[in-house]
Amino acid sequence: MTQALSHYLQFNDLTAQDYAYLFSRAAFIKHKFKTYAKHQPLTDRSLAMIFEKASTRTRISFEAGMYQMGGAVVHLTTGDSQLGRAEPIEDSAKVISRMVDLVMIRTYEQTKIERFAANSRVPVINGLTNEFHPCQIMADLFTYIEHRGDVTQPLQCLQGKVVAWVGDGNNMANTWLQAADLLGFKVHVSTPSGYEVDPAVAGIGHASCYRVFRDPLEACQGADLVTTDVWTSMGFEAENETRRQAFAAWCVDQNMMAAAKPDALFMHCLPAHRGEEVQAEVIDGPQSVVWDEAENRMHVQKALMEFLLLGRL
Ligand code: CP
Ligand code: NVA
Repeated sequence: MTQALSHYLQFNDLTAQDYAYLFSRAAFIKHKFKTYAKHQPLTDRSLAMIFEKASTRTRISFEAGMYQMGGAVVHLTTGDSQLGRAEPIEDSAKVISRMVDLVMIRTYEQTKIERFAANSRVPVINGLTNEFHPCQIMADLFTYIEHRGDVTQPLQCLQGKVVAWVGDGNNMANTWLQAADLLGFKVHVSTPSGYEVDPAVAGIGHASCYRVFRDPLEACQGADLVTTDVWTSMGFEAENETRRQAFAAWCVDQNMMAAAKPDALFMHCLPAHRGEEVQAEVIDGPQSVVWDEAENRMHVQKALMEFLLLGRL
């Protein structure tokens, strides 16, 4: 059975019901992995991974995940393909999607992945753009559910929760807002001035899913989860020095964690810079779940790839 063509370009490309299924399925797939039980629904299927930016976690989680499910992977970068030599994205999409069953892309503007998807015969997955990082937020939510909820009723524990976002109004922040809008929790956002989230870019329907705080400590008050990201995202390296100064007070420290709920978790999509966006005591401390968060990329993405190719099983 083959699923009708659907892409995963933004978090809200799937419904709350789809996420409920995917989180339960990810738990099932993770259990198989942990018990060395084979789970190979994608035998003879292949995934092309296109990286226009660097990656550790996204590459290994998709690549290992696809092999574990019985499939194969082709890895392309801008430097070693015609993508870096100005072949139109539409032509690349038409060619690549005739030879594989799935495509994952990490690139710059969201419009680029949209143009690729519009010309693709197979599902396209967003592995990070300037605007969004949906696979990461799926992993983050799954990690929260594992620690604070119940994977048999995965969405319940998210209702009404508060996520404190401390830092840049970037791809991660935008995706947190979409997730909050869709799944019924709130984001307390604190960014330096000039680096605010833009609800139009985030593509959220209800502004009620987030609240803005000037002071990062205030944003963390009563939060169930505190999370942050690098001060300078990939593609913005020229702004490094200006950002270093602007973001100096947006370092998640022990005071911020103490302002959050006593059972609050800390997350970071990684890579992290200790002493910049987060203190070592926090990321390496007892409330941090960053290693589970990184591992869970693989389990949720295996569930996602299976879902896009085979539907609900
Ligand atoms: N979190 C994340 O996407 O990591 P990589 O940049 O290493 O893929
Ligand atoms: N916001 C970061 C996330 C890295 C996984 C970036 O885009 O570089």
